Amino acid sequence: MALGFNNSNELEPIETASLDELQALQLKRMQWTLDHAYYNVPMYRNKFDDAGVHPGDLKHLEDICKFPYTTKQDLRDNYPFGTFAVPMKEVVRIHASSGTTGKPTVVGYTQGDIDRWANIVARSIRAAGGRAGDKVHISYGYGLFTGGLGAHYGAEKLGCTVIPVSGGQTEKQVQLIQDFKPDIIMVTPSYCLNLADEFDRQGIDPKNCSLRVGIFGAEPWTNSMREEIEQRMGMHAVDIYGLSEVIGPGVAQECLETKDGPTIWEDYFYPEIIHPEFLNVLADGDKGELVFTSLIKEAMPIIRYRTRDLTRLLPGNARTMRRMDKITGRSDDMMIIRGVNVFPSQIEEQILKIAGLSPHYQIEISRDNNLDSISVNVEVRSNDIKTNERDKLGAELKHHIKSLIGVSSKINILDENSVARSQGKAQRVVDKRNLK
Ligand code: DLL
Repeated sequence: MALGFNNSNELEPIETASLDELQALQLKRMQWTLDHAYYNVPMYRNKFDDAGVHPGDLKHLEDICKFPYTTKQDLRDNYPFGTFAVPMKEVVRIHASSGTTGKPTVVGYTQGDIDRWANIVARSIRAAGGRAGDKVHISYGYGLFTGGLGAHYGAEKLGCTVIPVSGGQTEKQVQLIQDFKPDIIMVTPSYCLNLADEFDRQGIDPKNCSLRVGIFGAEPWTNSMREEIEQRMGMHAVDIYGLSEVIGPGVAQECLETKDGPTIWEDYFYPEIIHPEFLNVLADGDKGELVFTSLIKEAMPIIRYRTRDLTRLLPGNARTMRRMDKITGRSDDMMIIRGVNVFPSQIEEQILKIAGLSPHYQIEISRDNNLDSISVNVEVRSNDIKTNERDKLGAELKHHIKSLIGVSSKINILDENSVARSQGKAQRVVDKRNLK
């Protein structure tokens, strides 16, 4: 399949093709993917046979709803290489996502997959405002995690100069930014805040650094966090989405000119939104769980993968392809506190409304007398804030959480630098319920 990517500033023709053209391409690729999965991966053959469907049943894109879902458990059951659809000698790269429990989820790529992945990450960086010749500082972790290498190959493909720093060594990262003067940074939003703090510690105003755009993903972050980072760092902050099971970073990218949620690269991945409990397909605009079918992945095609990420599909704006709304959270991260569903992102929004509080926070869930409760640990912006003012900040946050989210919480206002800092994905929730 022709890649057609050039590292000029022009968009690829498919990015602005008509909906008809896009859908015709999607249908052709989806038919190929179903065949490829059915005839080369026993797991898919068994699942399709059990559901009484055959790749030939897909006549229209919507027919995908007849095919069974794939879950993380399916991938675990076929650990490590049981979902690969090509002989091992054609697999040129393995990545894995650690997961909190059990074995990692393993993914594989052919050389063609690696090239196409680089293509969509290059497309993503360009949509974020990056251009050939820009210097790109990559702080996503390198290794089995897809973030570092995924970003790296894409930035190279666009014709950028890559600075492959990986995560950690925060002091050194700041020094490198000062000395190498990158235009773009690719990093988790929580680690970017960590970098901003380190700039402050070194007495440098991060607004004066060379960075023009930050491409942030790998964890949920709110629009309030976008404002915080943009103001503090004096740069644009745009959202990049992806997951290893589907390919890695670059499944969707927010366009700089609209900043209205990531555009899904629909020529590579077909999205659906389903009801997380009843599993029926929902209409565009309705909120539910995001599901993806890969359209041209060779080593590991993925059919109707349940991401657990909650969002909705929105019409295309800067591109023909549909967008997804910023992710509210994962169904796994949803806390149910005395019957009320709460996501960390909702708490984040309330924290960021209060000027005296920093964006560093962690939520603890505990259980007393069979009732779940949450405590929010959050830092003051400055240790100069006096005790009585801190009490007021705590009371204000507690009030907002109660009145706007509907749950009671305990607020612990802490000194600066008390909440554990992330080097990559932040751990927003600590569940202490099973520790007693
Ligand atoms: O996090 C891939 C990635 C790397 C994406 C760098 C963007 C940047 P996994 O480790 O497999 O892959 O984790 C995937 O992270 O299902 C979401 O829950 C979450 N996630 C990723 N991007 C975003 C985002 C990488 N922009 C899981 N907003 C996904 C919210 C995100 N959540």
